[in-house]
Amino acid sequence: MELRGGYLFFLYLSSVFFIFSVEEQVQRSQFPDDFFFGASTSSYQVEGAYLEDGKGLSNWDFFTQIPGKIADDDNGEVADDHYNRYLEDIELMHSLGTNAYRFSISWARILPDGMLGSVNPRGIIFYNKLIDNLLSKGIEPFVTIHHNDLPQVLEQRDGGWLSPLLREEFVHFASICFESFGDRVKYWVTINEPNMGADFAYLRGLFPPAHCSPPFGNCSTGNSDIEPLIGMHNMLIAHAMAVEIYRTFFWPKQNGFIGIVAHAFMYEPLRDEERDRDAVDRALAFNVAWTFDPVVYGDYPAEMRHCHGLELPRFSAKEKQLLRGSIDFIGVNHYSTLYVKDCIHSPCPSGGDRPIMGFLNTTGYRDGVPIGEPTGLADFFVVPRGMEKIIDYVKQRYNNMPMFVTENGCTLQTQENELEDRDRINFHRSYLASLARAIRSGADVRGYFVWSLMDNFEWLNGYTKRFGLYYVDRETLERTPKLSAGWFASFLS
Ligand code: NOJ
Repeated sequence: MELRGGYLFFLYLSSVFFIFSVEEQVQRSQFPDDFFFGASTSSYQVEGAYLEDGKGLSNWDFFTQIPGKIADDDNGEVADDHYNRYLEDIELMHSLGTNAYRFSISWARILPDGMLGSVNPRGIIFYNKLIDNLLSKGIEPFVTIHHNDLPQVLEQRDGGWLSPLLREEFVHFASICFESFGDRVKYWVTINEPNMGADFAYLRGLFPPAHCSPPFGNCSTGNSDIEPLIGMHNMLIAHAMAVEIYRTFFWPKQNGFIGIVAHAFMYEPLRDEERDRDAVDRALAFNVAWTFDPVVYGDYPAEMRHCHGLELPRFSAKEKQLLRGSIDFIGVNHYSTLYVKDCIHSPCPSGGDRPIMGFLNTTGYRDGVPIGEPTGLADFFVVPRGMEKIIDYVKQRYNNMPMFVTENGCTLQTQENELEDRDRINFHRSYLASLARAIRSGADVRGYFVWSLMDNFEWLNGYTKRFGLYYVDRETLERTPKLSAGWFASFLS
């Protein structure tokens, strides 16, 4: 540990020149004293040990076996082997000086066969050890119950999130988590990015179970106009049912907070015209408010109802009541900002920029000029002002309820010198400065999590895109701090 601390300090010194040569400064003192600063991961992306100690197969274990789905046909069978190296990883967090860790629970590790089977005790033991060791280092566990991976049996037998059966399944899984870990876990996220999940699984067909239809994609089955709406509907109701169980049976003793996390791009009009400004409102409603309006106000955004009419499922009176006020905090995963072009009053030729729900196209370019510095992912640009804007949007729309930035980070355009990741430092510094401005303007933001602690399995991109503060050698799985780890440690101290 001594060594690691010293090395981080050395990294800090070598990045000092860089830090002082940039215009905008950001300091820990600009955030409240009790603010949470942490790193985020998710089970499938880091755990590995895909068949160890009684774990069942997940939809991702299954999907990654289909040739051509994942870059280099890779998978999360080993990932970062966090399952076996979690103690070392907690040391990494500790040496950074973080006071929180956001991770998710592998559903198939706890319930290999869903609710028809029994609980895997060794899965419970693993998360107990993880939680206890985090707490012993003063690191608050922020636990996501579902982050993309579900038991394959639920996908195959029930039809995954397209089936209402998944609601009860999720409630069963969540209840086991509350019961087993809730005496120590005080921050729960029910579902990570249901909006992105529905989009990737059922609109574009890129995530399991790969359903879609033109113009959104060419899959062997699916209906991109309807299925994302159904998948999301089931996830939202499952969320609300789990929260009711938590509040009724567990909260009186456990006193924790529970929320949901959405993927939240910010948007700007492509053209300085009314129709594109309206399209920005639609883009935000169809992405961000699609998740949060139901759990705050009990129904889908009016903007969506207006565009979709009958296709958009309806909540019953009882479901609305269950949903309304079903979160204690809002979780925002924010990475980038995109331009939006209206497709209701203007022609949008197919095959051009990417169509998303809401009758609009998004693009990162205006007249060939990128909206911000490009990163290693096509839709992700460095646009720090977007952080302040998205926080302000959420603050206005939801009466400034408590918020956490549950993910923020970047993958670099080139990995030639991944350890000297000055662009990543610049990214976090400028986004944090933007977040600090939002807080100064009154936003009730209570935490910030870097995506990610370490390089990991980046879904379709396999291991070809690295988001970590720590570099993970794919042969040895050795973790090495990048310059950004040193910068983050110095920022936090
Ligand atoms: C959001 C997702 O929650 C996470 O799983 C993913 O790796 C990051 N975005 C980066 O793409």
